[in-house]
Amino acid sequence: MLIKIKKTSDICPSEITSESVYSSRRSFIAGATAGVGLMAAGISPFSSAALSTTYPNLITTPYGRGETLTPYDDVTSYNNFYEFGTDKSDPKKYAHEMTVDPWSVSVEGEADKTGVFQLEDLLKGVSLEERIYRLRCVEAWSMVIPWVGLPLNKVLEKFKPNSKAKYVEFETLQRPSEMRGQRSYLTSLEWPYVEGLRIDEAMHPLTILAVGVYGKSMPNQNGAPLRLVVPWKYGFKSIKSIVKIKFTEKRPVTSWEKSGPSEYGFYSNVNPGVDHPRWSQKRERRLPNSLFSPNRIDTAMFNGYADEVASLYRGMDLRKNF
Ligand code: MTE
Repeated sequence: MLIKIKKTSDICPSEITSESVYSSRRSFIAGATAGVGLMAAGISPFSSAALSTTYPNLITTPYGRGETLTPYDDVTSYNNFYEFGTDKSDPKKYAHEMTVDPWSVSVEGEADKTGVFQLEDLLKGVSLEERIYRLRCVEAWSMVIPWVGLPLNKVLEKFKPNSKAKYVEFETLQRPSEMRGQRSYLTSLEWPYVEGLRIDEAMHPLTILAVGVYGKSMPNQNGAPLRLVVPWKYGFKSIKSIVKIKFTEKRPVTSWEKSGPSEYGFYSNVNPGVDHPRWSQKRERRLPNSLFSPNRIDTAMFNGYADEVASLYRGMDLRKNF
């Protein structure tokens, strides 16, 4: 299939930031970067002391400049996190039941260095950035979110993956005592939630591990303390509350693929030319919206990141590899 390339810089007029949003945003970031001087106080920004605080000294990046941000309240109250229920409001109601400190991540598989690492050790020495990305859910709604995070490649390189590392598999916490969705019989997913990327997708500079939103630590409902964000793929690839990272030779089978192989593929690149079997993917509902202001916009190939990522899929039939 031919990949129709739309330039990332083609931002719709509706996405241009209003002056008031822009100035309140900049003053917020100024506050964030001035921060509370955690480092100066000898506190790691990933430690329990910092969990509900503002990240200092964030590196600002050009990503998403000029886009209208989805308000914090929408970002943190309209969520998909099936471990806490299938309703959009369930994660905010119940995700506080999940303990996120201490947090460790097991690094396994085809790499020279493997083991179990405390979150602060995993992220040590890497600077945090603000990345404003569009998030397009397979259900045809979308948001624009200012993440706090770091390039995944900077973390993965620390473990020196070997030549057999063709894929990276990720797993979410499985703790039914704190995750009521994992105790429910009404779920369509097997636990733990599993996702995966090809190694070149994982190493791509757009792919990040996020530890916060809006300059602050990650709310539990958004995947605290550590989640993936892959902005050119449908949102379900952006796995939350990660406890395992595994380098593999074989392609991982992901949770959604297992639950509906004809509906959810491994790649799941945002593609308005390939509909979901039960609905169109040509347009999306940008949040916030209402009955009187539906805020429907065209969906862009690779969610508007084609300039950066189309080359990863050159020569591939994206209808077959959906
Ligand atoms: N990760 C886990 N572990 N469990 C989930 O149910 N939902 C996915 C993804 N990551 C999900 C997950 C889906 S379908 C989407 S659209 C995004 O998280 C939503 O992220 P948000 O709630 O922060 O907007």
